[in-house]
Amino acid sequence: MTTTQIRLADAEATRAFGQDLARVLRAGDLVVLTGPLGAGKTTLTQGIGAGLGVRGQVASPTFIIARVHPSLVGGPALVHVDAYRLGSLEELDALDLDAGLDESVTVVEWGEGLAEVLSEDRLEIVLERPHGAGAGDGASGTAGAAGTDAADAADAADGDPEAGERTITLRAVGPRWAGVALPG
Ligand SMILES: Nc1ncnc2c1ncn2[C@@H]1O[C@H](COP(=O)(O)OP(=O)(O)O)[C@@H](O)[C@H]1O
Ligand SMILES: [Mg+2]
Repeated sequence: MTTTQIRLADAEATRAFGQDLARVLRAGDLVVLTGPLGAGKTTLTQGIGAGLGVRGQVASPTFIIARVHPSLVGGPALVHVDAYRLGSLEELDALDLDAGLDESVTVVEWGEGLAEVLSEDRLEIVLERPHGAGAGDGASGTAGAAGTDAADAADAADGDPEAGERTITLRAVGPRWAGVALPG
C-alpha cells in the first residue's frame, strides 16, 4: 500500500491532477473520494472525466445516485456516484446502470465519516482544506506564529469558502495498484 500527499493550489490544479490520474485508470477501477461538501470531490471528478475522454458535463450527481458518462474515445465509461444516498456498492450494482462496473471507472463521492469501502482494490482519496488539517499540526517550536498563520488561513477561507488550496491524500489499496506509478 502506498500513501501520497499532494497540495493543489486551486480548482484548476485539482482538475489537472484528476486528468493525470485518469492516465493510470482502467476498466474495473474504483476511486473513492472522501471529504466534506465543497472539498473538491466533484472538481476532481471533472478532471478524471476529461482525462478519460467521456461525454457530458461532470456535475454533482444531485437527485440521482449515479450518472454514467460513456467514453468518446473507446475507453471505459465513467460512473460517477453520489454515495451520500448509497448504502453499499452492492446497491450500486443493483441499480442496473447502462454500463457495467467491470467496463467502467467508478468514482464514488463519499461523505465525511461514512462507512468503510468494500472493494479489495481501490484508490482512496481524501480531500481537505489545509486550515482544517493543519490547525493542530505545525505548532512545534513556534506555536505562537504557527497559530497566527493558521488563524489567517482560516479567516481567508471563511471569507470565501470555495477559494484556496486543498490537500489530497492518496492511498492505493490492493494488488491492482502494486507497482503502478501514481501522479504527484
Ligand atoms: N484546490 C481546489 N480544489 C478543488 N476545488 C477548489 C479548490 N479551490 C477552490 N475550489 C472550489 O471549491 C469548490 C469545490 O466544490 P466541489 O468540487 O463541488 O466539492 P464537493 O464535490 O467535494 O462537494 C468549487 O467551487 C471549486 O471551484
Ligand atoms: Mg460533489
